[in-house]
Amino acid sequence: MILGRGLASGKVILFGEHAVVYGRPALAVPVTQVQAEAVVEVGAPGSGLTIVAADLGEQIVVRDAPADQPLAAAARLALAHLGLANPDWRLTVHSTIPVASGMGSGTAVSAAIVRALAAAKSKSVNQQTPALAPKRSAGASVSKSATRNTQYAVRNTRYELTAVELSALVYEVEKLHHGTPSGIDNTVIATGQPVYFVRGQPPQPFPIGRPFWLAIADTGIRSPTKITVGDVRLAWQQEQTRYETLFDRIGAVAEAARSAICAGETEALGPLMDANHALLQEIDVSCSELDALVAAARAAGALGAKLSGGGRGGNMIALVTEPTASTVADALRSAGAVRVIVTAVEQAAG
Ligand code: PMV
Repeated sequence: MILGRGLASGKVILFGEHAVVYGRPALAVPVTQVQAEAVVEVGAPGSGLTIVAADLGEQIVVRDAPADQPLAAAARLALAHLGLANPDWRLTVHSTIPVASGMGSGTAVSAAIVRALAAAKSKSVNQQTPALAPKRSAGASVSKSATRNTQYAVRNTRYELTAVELSALVYEVEKLHHGTPSGIDNTVIATGQPVYFVRGQPPQPFPIGRPFWLAIADTGIRSPTKITVGDVRLAWQQEQTRYETLFDRIGAVAEAARSAICAGETEALGPLMDANHALLQEIDVSCSELDALVAAARAAGALGAKLSGGGRGGNMIALVTEPTASTVADALRSAGAVRVIVTAVEQAAG
């Protein structure tokens, strides 16, 4: 029997990656075409919580897993937050988000696990204590705000997790993946909204003045963010003045991009993407495969293009229009992309 289900979308960083680790602003948006899903079912008596990572063919017994096993860590944090000991539940995780490629795979899996466990707690408590449940209609006060995905209405009692709580729990797991994460991935995935993010400040959702289109192309090269972030830190330690200047310039591009997006001046974004990519090349997080996809997209009519996320592999993004999207996507595939997603960036429904 299914006790609870949790979903979380992937994401891309539009502007500001790497510099965001050093306090500069960055912009990120959810990508709903790719998702992680976690499903909680009743497990065998005495089994405790078991996680089935269906895509990897792995089974993890949470009580025996090492502290840094990311799926078990997400589950332990969620159980502690929800006041659950170690229930006899079986949690199955699936994800269509490419791994280690800048689309928030690990973060989304953690968020889906936390959401599924919160939903399972709601259902199991309601099953155990139906007579005590208050008589109000399920979902009566469900907010239509950015937190809508993080609220669980099952019968009459529900365990609510705000986007801020979910983001904070997932951030703890992020530290295992990334070392020194800025917090942008957990923020955009927990809120499910376009986010303007500055480390240490409350995230600011920002309005999309006019929808625009992106082609997201995967080099097929897996590149763990922890490694590129670590390499940038070493380079920054050796050449602080130069790197601080580059980070300032990336931050200025991100600020200009936010203004253009809010004002609906989509055409201005292309040159800003190109400028951001050039700065990411200067901090040495691009690679020949990413540069080739960026060049192919521009040659096929994209208005601008850049790598997205940690770099040295993973994904790039190109600014396209509805008429140019399929030509650019074909050009990206011909240039070696293993997968291309075309997505509209628009205001989340709410
Ligand atoms: O998870 P990725 O690969 O999208 O990269 C995250 C963005 C970085 O700025 C490179 C790191 C961070 O923690 O912000």
